[in-house]
Amino acid sequence: MEFFIDTADVAEIRDLAATGLVDGVTTNPSLIAKSGRDILEVVREICELVDGPVSAEVAATDFETMLAEGRTLAALHRNVAVKVPLTVDGLKVCKALSDSGTRVNVTLCFSPAQALLAAKAGAAYISPFVGRLDDIGSDGMELVHDIVQVYSHYDFPTRVLVASVRGPAHVIEAARLGADVATVPPAVIRAMYAHPLTDKGLAAFLEDWRATGQTILRTKGEAA
Ligand code: G3P
Repeated sequence: MEFFIDTADVAEIRDLAATGLVDGVTTNPSLIAKSGRDILEVVREICELVDGPVSAEVAATDFETMLAEGRTLAALHRNVAVKVPLTVDGLKVCKALSDSGTRVNVTLCFSPAQALLAAKAGAAYISPFVGRLDDIGSDGMELVHDIVQVYSHYDFPTRVLVASVRGPAHVIEAARLGADVATVPPAVIRAMYAHPLTDKGLAAFLEDWRATGQTILRTKGEAA
């Protein structure tokens, strides 16, 4: 499973990219607004930090303007994947951009029927929003399960990118269901590392080690 980071915060991306675990980045208009930065500038900068797909979302809703915005975003860097909403015009743009070789991430997906349409429009990624479905008392992971199952019968180029991830359990469930990618907020990636038994175990190892008085790294004269 690939991990994308769901943020437009360049400092966070730089920090997490250093772990070598980041396969791509996703942004959206809300995340760009939160960064307080210019979209073209920040997307270009992210593309220099991470060698993988970087989703940048259009802001218009009509076909012509969305297509022009998509082309502008795609021209920023070869790794840009243009994000479009799952609307009729959005899928028309998806088809046009995909046909001309640009990767498209179709976002705001809330049903398997929408996911099927996006795949037929040539989407490189479909983004089911699991957290937002859970928020309204629905089951986000059931949607992921349905999309993975529907896609498994066909030869679509579309990868299932689980979005609106709220915690480590979402990531694990997405992996269990065979989703291709999870886009994860920085705080959730950090939460994935954490376990109280790891901290407790490490503290005990360090205490026992200190009692031995040993060192592993030795200077030349001190060879074992
Ligand atoms: O990038 C799209 C998606 O991950 C947004 O998540 O937390 O705003 O529902 P959220």
